[in-house]
Amino acid sequence: MPLQANIHDLKQLNKPFYIFKPKKLKKNVEAFIKKFNGEAIYSVKTNPHDYVVKKIYDAGIRSFDVASIKEIKLIKSLFSNSKIYYMNPVKSYLMIQKSYFEFGVRDFSYDCNDELEKIFKATDKAKDLNLHIRISTHNNFSKVNLSKKFGVEGREAAYLLRKASEISQNIGVSFHVGSQCLSPEAYKIAIRKVSLIVRKSGIKIKFLNIGGGFPGKYSEKNLPTLTEYFEKINSEFKKNFNYYHDVKLLSEPGRVLVYECMSLVVKVILKKKKKLFINDGIHGHLSEIKKLGLVQPVRLFRKKNKKINVVPFSFYGPTCDSNDFLKGPYFLPESIKNDDYIEIDLMGAYTLTTNNDFNGFFSKPIIFIKE
Ligand SMILES: Cc1ncc(COP(=O)(O)O)c(C=O)c1O
Repeated sequence: MPLQANIHDLKQLNKPFYIFKPKKLKKNVEAFIKKFNGEAIYSVKTNPHDYVVKKIYDAGIRSFDVASIKEIKLIKSLFSNSKIYYMNPVKSYLMIQKSYFEFGVRDFSYDCNDELEKIFKATDKAKDLNLHIRISTHNNFSKVNLSKKFGVEGREAAYLLRKASEISQNIGVSFHVGSQCLSPEAYKIAIRKVSLIVRKSGIKIKFLNIGGGFPGKYSEKNLPTLTEYFEKINSEFKKNFNYYHDVKLLSEPGRVLVYECMSLVVKVILKKKKKLFINDGIHGHLSEIKKLGLVQPVRLFRKKNKKINVVPFSFYGPTCDSNDFLKGPYFLPESIKNDDYIEIDLMGAYTLTTNNDFNGFFSKPIIFIKE
């Protein structure tokens, strides 16, 4: 994906393009590091653009949560001294082997006996593993549930903790409250739940990984602040782990760091009453918006945006998929016409890599930098 410094000829651009805002990224990363009382691990899947990842590193993050060998290679090629956490609970044998022996990865997550056995075998029962069990937890405060697919609980979790501790001295517990989590209560419930499991196992853990989930401010009203999330997390952590001085807190933020750092500019192909057919959609870079039911701020790009006469529109993507639309409402000037450009804000998280080739519309997007 090429990065270009500025937009010269708008008319040449017939495909959607992004505008990258590094200052917003820096601000969000620095705020997270300052407020979080532990190690911040960037979740690479959220926005794996190498320029974005470099800026995250420049702002102070040195650890990365990856889900595949491709992400490991990306991080290792950019910063050989970085720490990698392989936190996808399901990995192939070869991927575990390669990541341990070729890339020096030592931190792995698992959520069942077979995965743990696989890690043991693929690493020749290495003694320097850091093993993080993924506990399933209450995800009802979140827009994306991440505990239906992953996670273990109850007696099985306690058993797996004991089993992992036969090989490794460095045992961790992790959870994910779900992405775009709208209440700090979710972390409180999760910490209580994992502390009971840990107590039942009789093991002392070294790491408590609170995952990601911290929300972006899209259009939600009265969203708690990041400080409120961390206050709740810290007090619950101390209440439930009386040896908390010996436990390191980890977190894997994704969305909250990057959601603001990019906007997407799309072109109107056809205006049909209140339907705007645009050159991007759910098979391009707008699938996350559809999935979460988000309604981002929009404005006409490179035109005076007078607030008067704005009316609600829906967006329709360019493909033949009848589900390829976003209801909105997106308030834009009534006078908007074919070939106008619309800037959709807050498009930095889970957008860059979602395009597919359905109907042959999408290729890698162009990104411009706004300093
Ligand atoms: C294991 C893991 N960690 C962290 C994240 C990042 O979550 P978020 O973007 O909600 O902060 C994800 C998202 O899917 C994840 O699967």
